[in-house]
Amino acid sequence: VTLTLIHGDVLHVLPTLPEASVDAVIADPPYSSGGMFRADRVGRDTAKKYMHSGNPRGWRSFAGDTRDQLGYERWCAMWLADCRRILRRGGYVAVFTDWRQLPAVVSAINAGGLIYRGLIVWDKTEAARPQLGMFRAHSEFVVWASHGPLRRSPGCPPGVIRCRRGESDTHAAQKPVEVVSHLLSLVPPGGTVLDPFLGSGTTAVACRARGLDFVGVEIDTELIETARARIDGHQLDRGGALLQPALEAV
Ligand SMILES: C[S@@+](CC[C@H](N)C(=O)[O-])C[C@H]1O[C@@H](n2cnc3c(N)ncnc32)[C@H](O)[C@@H]1O
Repeated sequence: VTLTLIHGDVLHVLPTLPEASVDAVIADPPYSSGGMFRADRVGRDTAKKYMHSGNPRGWRSFAGDTRDQLGYERWCAMWLADCRRILRRGGYVAVFTDWRQLPAVVSAINAGGLIYRGLIVWDKTEAARPQLGMFRAHSEFVVWASHGPLRRSPGCPPGVIRCRRGESDTHAAQKPVEVVSHLLSLVPPGGTVLDPFLGSGTTAVACRARGLDFVGVEIDTELIETARARIDGHQLDRGGALLQPALEAV
């Protein structure tokens, strides 16, 4: 298995990757969401704005979370168009989003020339934040789309994944390995996966466990180191620092 981690801005790095070289793209971009007002979006630390109780875990802030919805849609369309070029025909993209940005992401998928296939629901369980007087927001969404007609795979993986967030996450927006691994269900054996927003390296860990080759891009050098340590099987504290070697269960 080859795992390649590239430091840089997605808009600069993707054009350097070869055409038709990956089978799937798992993308978890900054959501540019959170709060009720524009000031919440542009002025608040990412580690705090998605949490009601400040930042008790000491997570690092992450980049690229300040676009308004129009800018966000355009930016997503730019990197999605490049993902289409890098995808083999019949391959697919899976893009994480929340309820606010869902329309923008679907529109960007279409603008990027991909064929919208549907939504996968990540049910974060009742452990997710409750808000008094409101339906509990315990879902995030994965918009998935193919490059041309989808390559047919055996099986019919479920479109709802029920899994709570990790207790020892090292990134404010870290996804559970189990959820990302499920999204890889349609990748052919020995295939290659691209993650343009590596973060703490969840997709790399899932690919390694599934025996898939992997290419990841991340703008923050410290997160590249966090991802490398996770791939190597080290246990990290919530700020991403090394604790002790231990293989992560998938
Ligand atoms: C939502 S997080 C990804 C979390 C990841 N899925 C995980 O489980 O750890 C988005 C990541 O994209 C990175 N990022 C933001 N803007 C970027 C850009 N223009 N190019 C590359 N990476 C970027 C951020 O630093 C952040 O780590």
